[in-house]
Amino acid sequence: MALQHQTLGTNIIPLHYTLTFEPGLPRFRFRGAAAIDISIAKATKTIALNAKELEISSAQVITGSEKLSASIAMNVPQQEVTITLPKLVQGNATVKLEFTGTHNDGMYGFYRSKYLLKGEEQFLLTTQFEAANARAAFPCFDEPAFKATFDVSMIVGKDMFTVSNMPIKAEKRVSSRTKLVTFQTSPKMSTYLLYLGVGQFKFISAKSGKVLIRVLATPDKIHLGKLALRYTKTFLQFFERYFKIPYPLPKVDIIAIPDFASGAMENWGAITFREIALLGDQDTSVVFKQNIAITIAHELAHQWFGNLVTMQWWDDLWLNESFATFMSYKAVHDAFPEWDVPLQYFEETIADALSADELESTHPINVKVNTPGEIDEIFDKISYDKGGSVLHMLESYVGEKAFREGLHLYLRTHAYGNATKDQLWGAIQQAHHDTTTSSMIKGWITQPGFPLVEVKRQGKRYLLSQTRFTLTRKKYTQKWTIPLNYSTADGKPGSLLLTKLRGTIFDSSPWPKLNYGQDGYYRVKYTPELLDALGEQIRQQKFYPLDVAGIENDLFALVLAGEYTIDYYLDFIEKHCLTVAYPASMSISLHLNSLLHVGYKRRWENTTKRVSTIFHHHLLGQIGWSRPKNEKNTTTMLRSLSISSLGIADDEKAIHYVHNLLEQIRSGKPVDSNLRGVVYSISAWRGDASLYNYLWKRYIREQVPEENRKLLRAGGMFRDKILIQKALAWSQSDNVRLQDSFVIPVTISGNPAASELLWQWLQQHWIQLMKRYSGGTHMLPTFVHCLSGLSTRKQLAEFQAFFRQKKHLRDDIKMVVRQVAERIRINVALVERNS
Ligand code: BES
Ligand code: ZN
Repeated sequence: MALQHQTLGTNIIPLHYTLTFEPGLPRFRFRGAAAIDISIAKATKTIALNAKELEISSAQVITGSEKLSASIAMNVPQQEVTITLPKLVQGNATVKLEFTGTHNDGMYGFYRSKYLLKGEEQFLLTTQFEAANARAAFPCFDEPAFKATFDVSMIVGKDMFTVSNMPIKAEKRVSSRTKLVTFQTSPKMSTYLLYLGVGQFKFISAKSGKVLIRVLATPDKIHLGKLALRYTKTFLQFFERYFKIPYPLPKVDIIAIPDFASGAMENWGAITFREIALLGDQDTSVVFKQNIAITIAHELAHQWFGNLVTMQWWDDLWLNESFATFMSYKAVHDAFPEWDVPLQYFEETIADALSADELESTHPINVKVNTPGEIDEIFDKISYDKGGSVLHMLESYVGEKAFREGLHLYLRTHAYGNATKDQLWGAIQQAHHDTTTSSMIKGWITQPGFPLVEVKRQGKRYLLSQTRFTLTRKKYTQKWTIPLNYSTADGKPGSLLLTKLRGTIFDSSPWPKLNYGQDGYYRVKYTPELLDALGEQIRQQKFYPLDVAGIENDLFALVLAGEYTIDYYLDFIEKHCLTVAYPASMSISLHLNSLLHVGYKRRWENTTKRVSTIFHHHLLGQIGWSRPKNEKNTTTMLRSLSISSLGIADDEKAIHYVHNLLEQIRSGKPVDSNLRGVVYSISAWRGDASLYNYLWKRYIREQVPEENRKLLRAGGMFRDKILIQKALAWSQSDNVRLQDSFVIPVTISGNPAASELLWQWLQQHWIQLMKRYSGGTHMLPTFVHCLSGLSTRKQLAEFQAFFRQKKHLRDDIKMVVRQVAERIRINVALVERNS
């Protein structure tokens, strides 16, 4: 298959890189030398490579016995360097380049990260190359389809610890203070997966068969690495079993980095993590522990899906990300069946995807992207969660066995190469021995949005119809092939493939539950009569938890879309849903909170508070206010959410409970880590300046990543405008790491008393924020997202006017700006309809 490249063309293909780096502590400049073996199809005098923020001092091309020196021209906006030779060259050649670059503090490229050791400031060096920042460390063919092998060496201080994708081959003394470290040759791989690390890392290790597993962290944090070591071993073995392909490298390093832009990064054999997503111990709360497990499993899944077989171009980024998302839950479920991971998958992946995908301004999973900014922008809920949901539906359609065999075939066929989505469907279809899979799945990948299936009773049958669902209820002519499962009042499960706009279920029982088992990526609209009947079944606890969650989730979306009223929803919850289990309970809790948020000081605030209070007291009545040993994780999660929800609704019992726990924490008594976050946040919600000062005093000293995060979050929960202003300023001060600087704004976006303030602040600081978050950090979109809760006409107009100005816009936020504008419009409409 022909290679597809965006900018560099296909005439020149890299085969092998020999890279030597001389990192530069303490001046934060590095020197590098690259010798790149290339193959040139058609004779040429010019060779273009990607380069960014590098100074290239010399270029030479060697062909056969000839050494040609080349002239160098940088194209900064294009992020390219073109070298021009005195004569035409063809066939095999080697490009030799010398260059220097900066260890920036922006968390991309070959960057620096700061930490404290015994009170003293220290630095380590690390890389983050995905999507397009390998070019900030060395000139290269920086596109995923240009796979090559790599020989890496580094010249570093003799006490430094170095890491790359492969194990160390040799270490050699260079001077009294420095050594040359050479790593083994890597397999054929994409540039975005290369890794370089230098620092005073400490590690713990274990073996899985022949594979050496190490967890690395700074010396003060390595004692928090045991959990990660255990998880890594378990999940690595799971994936080897599941994919039936051994992990192909001799080692895997799992590395905690103090400054890290995203959650984790799957560099082949040298996976990096934000500390909070990796480090923990027996005191870690279940939410954080599960996040550590899911994150490790996700990045390990990439070692096959993404690293061994890579998407041809970034338009199929979702192939990487949705598979890793989907597979991570499989691995964790296999190891910890008691965690109810499939139920959590609905709440965290499927429901989340549907709610992101019900905007007119959503995008199809498969999307055209060209510039690095556009690529950055699609690391979003659609690529991760919608992709993951569609894969879940596909697996349930073809069955686990055919699905797995298809994956195996796909991975085997394209190992060390690149592939596209069609090759994946092809493989699954082949394993399933059918002809429909490919065409069924296509509609879900190439079309934006998803269908709403409406069901109405007519005599002895149910009539079905599908239309695209958006919260604005705009009319579309789209159509999907929907694998539709249902059950009926007679208890008979059935299924059909809805290929047309309309369909029929022949059944005369009083109700059907569509999307039975909630494997399908669509919503269902019932008539009020059918909803009443289903509600009654819910009340009598006749349904599986997932089906209850599905009914409630779809109903809530229909409220936002104006098909049902808020009053109807609240009534439905109070009448039928007081005894529901996870995940419906979680879903209801979150929805009530979001109604309270948009309803702050509005007509339905009091009714919502009333229902929320009844609902959550009911829930806490069942599960208790404190955690018994050996409780289900989901129950533990529900408890903190319930207490927090009550706190936000100013329930006196909850406030009192939280205050007591805060006193215990302040006097040094142990308090359940699962409740500590709520204690800080709800105390802040009711708190004053003295609490504010207490939180920051502790925050500055707090080294345990989880506790540190909780203290920071609480800073955004005050009601007092002055404290919120101060917290926002604090969030961008030197006291808060760049990687954590979105935490306070994100918390404030959930603080109903402070939305307008946040909006004012963002406008005032926007230009600064754009500078602070370079494209490579993927963080700027988060700040735009924070505005999704705005709900007045005035705010909508201001938002649109503000981002209409070119100087406020950038490639990596264009889409999210459109989406947030639409959200605000939807909020405004919701308010106007229900007032
Ligand atoms: N490949 C991504 C990391 C990444 C994200 C690189 C955005 C460049 C831009 C990694 O595999 C990933 O998906 N990380 C997730 C964590 C995961 C558990 C969902 C993240 O960072 O949030
Ligand atoms: Zn990923």
